[in-house]
Amino acid sequence: MLLGVTGGVAAYKACFLTRLLSGAGAEVQVVMTGAAARFVGPDTFAALSGRPVYTELWDDPGSVLHVRLAREAEVAVVAPATANVLAKLAVGIADDLLTSTLLEARCPLVVAPAMHTGMWEQPATRANVATLLERGVRVVGPATGPLAHGDEGVGRLAEPEEILAAVEEAAAHGRDLAGRRLVVTAGPTWEPIDPVRFVGNRSTGRMGFAVAKEAWDRGADVTLVVGPGTVEPPAGPRLVRVTTAEEMRAAVLAAAEGADAVVMAAAVADFRPERVAGAKLKKEAGPPELRLVPTPDILSELGAARSGRVLVGFAAETDDLEGGGRAKLDAKGLDLLVVNEVGRPGTGFGSDTNHAAILSATGEDSPLREWTKRELAAALCDRIAALLAR
Ligand SMILES: Cc1cc2nc3c(=O)[nH]c(=O)nc-3n(C[C@H](O)[C@H](O)[C@H](O)COP(=O)(O)O)c2cc1C
Repeated sequence: MLLGVTGGVAAYKACFLTRLLSGAGAEVQVVMTGAAARFVGPDTFAALSGRPVYTELWDDPGSVLHVRLAREAEVAVVAPATANVLAKLAVGIADDLLTSTLLEARCPLVVAPAMHTGMWEQPATRANVATLLERGVRVVGPATGPLAHGDEGVGRLAEPEEILAAVEEAAAHGRDLAGRRLVVTAGPTWEPIDPVRFVGNRSTGRMGFAVAKEAWDRGADVTLVVGPGTVEPPAGPRLVRVTTAEEMRAAVLAAAEGADAVVMAAAVADFRPERVAGAKLKKEAGPPELRLVPTPDILSELGAARSGRVLVGFAAETDDLEGGGRAKLDAKGLDLLVVNEVGRPGTGFGSDTNHAAILSATGEDSPLREWTKRELAAALCDRIAALLAR
């Protein structure tokens, strides 16, 4: 595992953390920033970890050091994490060995910020931490208590034992979908009326993107089938872009061959115009009469064909969430169904949170509550990993 130490007074506590991590059986590779090396000598960490400590991109001329270190790390922790390194991580700056390694790394990342209260409470730092959290970085602390310079307040490094627990949790969840193939759908479908108009919905793709990112971070091979007009999809998963429900069906069925799990988070249109006009409908011709016909029910089709895949559906409901959800889960032959409450302000389409319940075919339900999309994605991946491990 990789321990990044950055330039704050609390760097000395990273010595205790190194001992704890080694004691827990980890091979600790320490990388220090130049500022950190002014607080504690690299030789101290070398003695504690039993490995050479690196500080510079050019410390190992025989290899591309930051790439090698990134590939070797199963989990990375930065403790203490300065305001400076949090800012660099948030925007992707790679101007030294530690930040270059972390930008290249694909492993789970834990950061333990430590700084004076003013730095911690700066809107810039708050925004950087929010960005990192949104991307799935685990943030431990900071705690409140005595700080350097005789001050007191929030900004103190979390205790090494607390950081160790977060690292162990990240490592345990870190790669539990490695070797698994997942298909995730996201976004709306657009069903054409004529060459310029369509019937669609307000889905932004955020929920499916959160699931795809979480699964990818946990080691899965992910195919992300995305409808039109969404927010930016996450980097990593293989992207298949579609527009209509029929195209989504074809893409999902093809990708589902040999997949271990299919998560249908897309808001696929239930109906499409029966006829698509070849030319733009003219206003002067008066209001057109649109006859709608059902689109294919992709989940039911997958549910009927089963073949051992874990099947996860999403349902958006405005009332009787759990009753309606249970009926859908049974009718479609699903393993899991997330029932989302839509139509309330601040939840569902386009928002960062969902008021949702996870229903399971085995009856182990997670009751209706408020989740961030990332929390919901993590809980779903926990369930999928557990179902696949049976
Ligand atoms: C004595 C001293 C203590 C410092 N303590 C902290 C600290 O606790 N947290 C922090 O974010 N920056 C602290 N700084 C400022 C950082 O060292 C500075 O922002 C530096 O550029 C960080 O570099 P790095 O992020 O590459 O390690 C301190 C500086 C000095 C001189």
